[in-house]
Amino acid sequence: MVKLIVLAGGGGTRLFPVSRTSYPKQFLKLATERSLLIETLKRFEKKIKPENMIIVTNKEYKHHVLSELKAYGFKGVHVILEPTSRNTAPAIALAVQYCKEVLNAGESQCILVTPSDHIIKPGEAMVSATAEAIALSSKGYFTTFGVVPDKPETGYGYIKAYKENIKIKHGEIKCFSAFEVEKFVEKPTKEKAEEYFASGEYYWNSGMFAFTIGTFFKELEVYCPDIYHLIQQGYAPALKHFDQMPNISIDYALAERSHLVAVIPLQLKWSDVGSWDALYEILEKDNEGNALTGDCVTVDCRNSMLVASDRLVAAVGLDETIIVETNDAIVVAKKGESQKIKDLVGFLKNNQ
Ligand code: GDD
Ligand code: MG
Repeated sequence: MVKLIVLAGGGGTRLFPVSRTSYPKQFLKLATERSLLIETLKRFEKKIKPENMIIVTNKEYKHHVLSELKAYGFKGVHVILEPTSRNTAPAIALAVQYCKEVLNAGESQCILVTPSDHIIKPGEAMVSATAEAIALSSKGYFTTFGVVPDKPETGYGYIKAYKENIKIKHGEIKCFSAFEVEKFVEKPTKEKAEEYFASGEYYWNSGMFAFTIGTFFKELEVYCPDIYHLIQQGYAPALKHFDQMPNISIDYALAERSHLVAVIPLQLKWSDVGSWDALYEILEKDNEGNALTGDCVTVDCRNSMLVASDRLVAAVGLDETIIVETNDAIVVAKKGESQKIKDLVGFLKNNQ
């Protein structure tokens, strides 16, 4: 039975004022009925039992995670609390060691890793690709899930696949759509992203991975010996000395370096919701192109987004504008400029 590692320790503030360092995106309801974390668990619950799910998060978010699990009746989910943030490579390594040592999983145990803060439509398309990912990982691949891009986004990793299908190479029926990866480029420059997008030869890295415990540690030893040696001391010592871990993402640590990477192409509506503009893109719009969530009224507005959390938000005559309301702050931004909210947050930190 596959084990699911759910990464829930990121602390982004790009969706300020709704998300804060103390309340990041994975705990928000964004165009979703439940928080993105719970939506993630729900996406997999038909295939993976709660006792095979491992959430790895920062100790600061313990309360959010436990109360969400309780509210939605997720009993038996394992929760690992990192004492400090060291990005995704140490977080995944710690969770894999937990599976090996605490859950007694063997070298051939297949592990699926998923972020906890994405919107995926339909979510089932992603989940049904996991059967193929499991088949690939048992063949020794470090499997990624590649989304067909629709713009030259610089916030994602890019995956270039070889043209020959893995099914043909191995005669493996279950691996019907996957390719070996020629190149993995984490967060390219604007110029490179435009070049990759125009070529039509690249996929976006969706941030989901599948591998066996054996493959993971073999690759970690070669490409990230610092993390490997700390983890080899055992789960409890690694947790105790977690501050000694290098701060590095799994993408830079392994995906860009490993020669065992495979990709399963996926054509679906997927978003990392990295900005208010990204949320606008994924939301349903009215006939005037307005995306409205919460208690909102518009008259003569076009191509705008209103997000109301605590109060009625009423707007007249807006064009290409974003308004986000919470009980203690309101942000108004020009559509297309919401990436700059990180500058706003920086300014507020230094000046308030
Ligand atoms: N436990 C834990 N600890 N989780 C973390 C940590 C950490 O220190 N840092 C981040 N996470 C979680 C986030 O909450 C998120 O669910 C996931 O790990 C990915 O981290 P992000 O920080 O959101 O990564 P990213 O969006 O910049 O880039 C990654 O995801 C993209 C797709 O969304 C990369 O994998 C890119 O290549 C990929 O395209
Ligand atoms: Mg992300």
